[in-house]
Amino acid sequence: MSLNIKHIRDQFPILKQQVYGKPLVYLDSAASAHKVVDVLLAERRLTIDYYGNIHRAAHYMADKATADFEAVRTQVAEFLGAEGREEIIFTKGTTESINLVAFSFGEAFAQPGDEIIVSEMEHHSNIVPWQLMAERKQARVVMLPFADDGELRMDLLPGLITPRTKMIAVTHVSNVLGTINPIREITELAHAHGVKVLVDGAQAVQHMPVNVRELGADFYTFSSHKIYGPNGVGVLYGRRDLLEVMPPYQGGGEMIAEVSFTKTTFNELPYKFEAGTPHITGVAGLGAALRFITEAGIGNIAEHEQELLRYATEKLLTIEGMSIFGTSPRKSGVISFNIEGIHPYDAGMLLDKMGIAVRTGHHCADPVMEHYKIPGTIRISFGIYNTREEIDQFFEALKKVIQILGK
Ligand code: ALA
Repeated sequence: MSLNIKHIRDQFPILKQQVYGKPLVYLDSAASAHKVVDVLLAERRLTIDYYGNIHRAAHYMADKATADFEAVRTQVAEFLGAEGREEIIFTKGTTESINLVAFSFGEAFAQPGDEIIVSEMEHHSNIVPWQLMAERKQARVVMLPFADDGELRMDLLPGLITPRTKMIAVTHVSNVLGTINPIREITELAHAHGVKVLVDGAQAVQHMPVNVRELGADFYTFSSHKIYGPNGVGVLYGRRDLLEVMPPYQGGGEMIAEVSFTKTTFNELPYKFEAGTPHITGVAGLGAALRFITEAGIGNIAEHEQELLRYATEKLLTIEGMSIFGTSPRKSGVISFNIEGIHPYDAGMLLDKMGIAVRTGHHCADPVMEHYKIPGTIRISFGIYNTREEIDQFFEALKKVIQILGK
């Protein structure tokens, strides 16, 4: 069964907008995806019909809100193939999820001289938290390079793992190169050496089936706003045995069992890691987003986006002076490119005036830019709602940009 794109697009009213009098062509879903209308309805329902603070009060509204919130936890556990729902922790987003692990795993396990392997293609949010941890614990961040085609240098990984390696932090899908990394291969190698693996799934879960147990991930993270859900909500999956021994990341309400000035004890999983009132309505919205994805079928989504990727790549390659960064055959719906003689910012600005939303710049991945010795790229990225017609519109606009800016 393939996607009914008209039906899908009808569920995203924003796509009917015009910008500068031109129909919107939104090719920036890797930065943030639009919200499916059911997400807003779920948030509205919870806000208007039965809002109350979760886990705390003994009244109808709070009980109902708590039941909804916990139902989404179960839904996320199923979505990721986790063994138990207590392995799912709600956070603000991928960035907070990674910071949580870097801090808490570091406190539990890192010793001076230890090493964390981080790939060269990571988003800053999967580099800086490890650098902060390394500084605190006198550990060291070791870089796993990628080759010019955007594939990880897996041949180098065995040589980088030492008896001091504690963790490999790697993205499932690169937000710049689109490369789908061989996570299973990485976790098998890591585990053979007693090393744990954190996988940044921010660019993966909305595009392909993910099963954390099949991947062998010890930690897996994603953000709701990239999977058609609300902003300000994210997920951390962690293996229960690891989370059990990791200390809390933040202190506050809900994460405690008992508090006194002589001794405070902590709550059980997952609440130990959920200090303070969470984004209750946002989690309800995430539940709706996951239902939308499940109904559309993640396999159908992958097929649709792969087709768009093929179509757009073929078209772009007809342009003279075109460089595409990331040409792995295992690639998700992201194309970063530059055209000789044209600055990506100028191209982005002109495309915007023609109704085409793209991202330009370093994409929060300075080491990737450094690898290619470029200041930035133009990036288009696809979501479930994009069409071949939109790629045609983008391509026509790009041709105009080249006429205006080209030599
Ligand atoms: N990480 C997001 C992107 O790649 C913001 O655009």
